[in-house]
Amino acid sequence: VSTLAIDNIGLLVTNDPALGTIHDAAIVFDGERVAAVQRAGAGAGADERIDAGGRCVIPGFVDSHTHLVFAGERGDEFAARMAGAPYAAGGIRETVAATRAASSERLHELAAARRREGLRAGITHVEIKSGYGLDVEHERRSCEIAAAFTDDVTFLGAHVVPHGIDADDYVALVCGEMLEACAPHARWIDVFCERGAFDAEQSRAVLRAGRAAGLVPRIHANQLGFGAGVRLGVELGAASVDHCTYLDDDDIDALAGSDTVATFLPATDFSTRQPYPDARRAIDAGVAVALATNCNPGSSYTTSMAFCVALAVRDMGMTVDEALAAATLGGARALRRRDVGHLGVGARADAVLLDAPSPAHLVYRPGVPLVAMTIARGQRAWSAPGLEG
Ligand code: NIG
Repeated sequence: VSTLAIDNIGLLVTNDPALGTIHDAAIVFDGERVAAVQRAGAGAGADERIDAGGRCVIPGFVDSHTHLVFAGERGDEFAARMAGAPYAAGGIRETVAATRAASSERLHELAAARRREGLRAGITHVEIKSGYGLDVEHERRSCEIAAAFTDDVTFLGAHVVPHGIDADDYVALVCGEMLEACAPHARWIDVFCERGAFDAEQSRAVLRAGRAAGLVPRIHANQLGFGAGVRLGVELGAASVDHCTYLDDDDIDALAGSDTVATFLPATDFSTRQPYPDARRAIDAGVAVALATNCNPGSSYTTSMAFCVALAVRDMGMTVDEALAAATLGGARALRRRDVGHLGVGARADAVLLDAPSPAHLVYRPGVPLVAMTIARGQRAWSAPGLEG
């Protein structure tokens, strides 16, 4: 195990309550862990030293909601939507057909390419859902492929009802044979609770069955309209309710009095021409929030957490500091993890060097690729040209 130091950091955001945000700092990694946070210049004794040149360092982004295991793309559907067509959950079935047709090797390669893209964008930890298989073998295969990239795998057999099967029969399959096949590869159980997908009763059955199999609930809720999903998630002890584009007062009260995180996915609202959620209202009411990309081929085909941060600040009423915290610590909380999302001593050695003096530039310079280097588990996972070292 060797040590790596990033020295001469102009501004270090640690997300650690005791350390805070530090000017003129150095951070030392020992293998896969943060070993020390010190004054600039302290990195001289490390086995390898990276000179940040006064740039800013932040914790790696924690992307707590993605659907990276899929084949095909839906650019035509997106273009039609931009020309006025509405978003409907039914497009998921097109991706299911493409995903089923792909070999396991191909699906693995596609997920790996998306993971590389995410590392380049500063994402050092991801959750990955199944949900484009929708039969026992294809869901099992998706969970297994996802598990090659993360220990936060989510079984989402209840993404939409596939053609040719009655909805209640499908729910029974998801809660029975499919869950049994997928649970060994997964940590989480999820359901798309929305008109056009699964209603509250069906969603409750899926999450309860998952819980009985040892998985922890999370839920897609209130994406396309108001509904019972957020309250159902809180009732069942979900770690996170995701989307939350439409929140009424009861939803906010339920979330504020719970341990459930509200995860906003603003790139989805961008890509489906929806209103943005009112994050300010949720935060002011005491709701814990996260930001995630929701990378998928239908509603949000992006791995840019910086883009999500920019939307959250520009259009959801969040400050830069709140949005950055939501995209790092918030994601960790939504995944019930303490090892990522911050740079306290002992945390996983996941950090991002920005080609900027402060995180405000993520919003101030929209669309500009500011990630100069991504360190994941103490290793350089991506370096911009000129910084390869
Ligand atoms: O989170 N909402 C459900 N699932 C995805 C969309 C999937 C798709 O359109 O392919 C989402 O937005």
